[in-house]
Amino acid sequence: MTSKDPFTIAIDGPAAAGKGTISKAVAAHFGFAHLDTGLLYRAVGAKSLLGMDPAEAARTLTSDDLQANDLRGPEVAQAASKVAVIPEVRAALLDFQRSFARRSGGAVLDGRDIGTVICPNADAKLFVTASAEVRADRRFAELAASGAAISREQVLADVMERDARDRQRAAAPLKPAADAVEIDTSDMSIEAAIATAIRAIEHRRAQ
Ligand code: DC
Repeated sequence: MTSKDPFTIAIDGPAAAGKGTISKAVAAHFGFAHLDTGLLYRAVGAKSLLGMDPAEAARTLTSDDLQANDLRGPEVAQAASKVAVIPEVRAALLDFQRSFARRSGGAVLDGRDIGTVICPNADAKLFVTASAEVRADRRFAELAASGAAISREQVLADVMERDARDRQRAAAPLKPAADAVEIDTSDMSIEAAIATAIRAIEHRRAQ
């Protein structure tokens, strides 16, 4: 890396491990732009639920599609995980993610394959995990707060189904990059998880 290259941070991990919150806080701390790549797959998933071919939806995705306010629900999450298995969908979303990573001023991207496929040369890589029970509890609290009618058991089943699909798919499966720092947030407060993430990145920046 030359001193002019933008600094890129890759943050991967399973659903509801805390990577969204950590990524936002890390981006704010360093003054970097942040891309939640799950939103791209959710937008494609939402279009597939409306009957559109997923590869076509990915090729024609616009920033308006990412503003839709119904992308956070469990049905769209499952649809996102299903369309994410399709290699043509992943290929269509690749350039956008890579150009975002190269933007001047630095970038944080969070997802499942950022450190392994999208930005294999990222300057810092984190893999954020937590037990399935803890992740289901967090997601259930979020959904309950937003008024969704769903049980904790259903949330746990959804999280486990999505994890299994995301880890087992052939194209860019969810897994830690060999050089990623793993952070297990099961027993951490969100403040402690953010502080641990920032420390790990500062350490890489100093190298
Ligand atoms: O991060 P999220 O829960 O919003 O992601 C929704 C789904 O999108 C996830 O289950 C798998 C897929 N995804 C992916 O395959 N690759 C990414 N980089 C981000 C998300």
